[in-house]
Amino acid sequence: MTSKGDLILGIETSCDDTSLALVNEAGQVIAEKTVNQFEIHADYGGVFPELASRAHVHALQPTLREVLEQGGVKGPDLRAIGVTRGPGLIGSLLAGVNFAAGLAAGWNVPIYGINHLRGHLRSVDLEEKRLEYPALVLLVSGGHSFLAYLKDQQTIELLGSTRDDSVGESYDKVARMMDLGFPGGPAVDKLAKTGTPQVRFPRPLIKEGFEFSFSGLKSAVARHLEQNPDAKHEDVCAAFVEACIDVLMTKSRRALQAYPVKSFAIVGGVAASPQIREQAGKLAEAEGATLCLPPLKWAADNGAMIALAAWDYVNNGWEPTLETQTRIPISQI
Ligand code: KG4
Ligand code: ZN
Repeated sequence: MTSKGDLILGIETSCDDTSLALVNEAGQVIAEKTVNQFEIHADYGGVFPELASRAHVHALQPTLREVLEQGGVKGPDLRAIGVTRGPGLIGSLLAGVNFAAGLAAGWNVPIYGINHLRGHLRSVDLEEKRLEYPALVLLVSGGHSFLAYLKDQQTIELLGSTRDDSVGESYDKVARMMDLGFPGGPAVDKLAKTGTPQVRFPRPLIKEGFEFSFSGLKSAVARHLEQNPDAKHEDVCAAFVEACIDVLMTKSRRALQAYPVKSFAIVGGVAASPQIREQAGKLAEAEGATLCLPPLKWAADNGAMIALAAWDYVNNGWEPTLETQTRIPISQI
């Protein structure tokens, strides 16, 4: 039985998932519903921003009703609402923030605009507390790829991010070259497992530092497919995934050696990849850190991680703001 003030409602609409969840302070997900937009964007091979925001507007109200019903709570009994205020697509963010602001006013509950990246960070503590500080975080999603050092919950240092494409974006673009559907990450990952790398694709910036670059790797795959129209797609995917993982793990190893930590966390949609999970396990063990991964269900964008992040805002007394921003650094509240 939950009592008044035990739950935060998290609302996530930064990209193409309308996701709402009720989460308690311990990170237990009491109710959750995610409506994806795969069918809407499939014809475009990527997210069509205007269609995404309209779809959020349609999905929000029925999704809310379902989540409140599942949780057996009424809006005015919530402790707070947490809603993603950025980074993301501006129309999608506005759909969520405006909806949430209306609810907060009507129910008279506090509302917090949440940095989506901090939501991903907190995804590792959903269902069970895992993360211990200091920690190293590798965030790999459709919109971002970076390594960050977390001294504690408030002190976050960005070590390096991508200069061009994110990892997820390059998975999606490679999938598009082979007509594997949208989103492409899971399809590329699955196909890669059935193939063997026959070529060695470039590992951009692998030799030094913590910055990433994935657009050259993507172009190398495109060139290879053009020059070798008979190449087996599973082998090309295997070589591509091998290059991505090599870059991600090499940079993570470098960071783990430069910044000894208790926890090594990998978050974001690409953290759903079984191949990355396996390699990261080996790396963490070798470097003496504990690997922290979000439960598979919470790797991609979701309202639960936003709700858990909102608990931090509530407990730390962080100033609430509802300003929508397409870009927000991880270090910002
Ligand atoms: O975190 P997320 O849901 O959204 C953003 O905040 O961007 O990440 C979505 C990305 C997409 O690029 C998708 O292709 C990728 O995560 N992804 C995967 C896998 N599942 C999702 N990439 C590789 N392997 C997977 N199994
Ligand atoms: Zn995300």
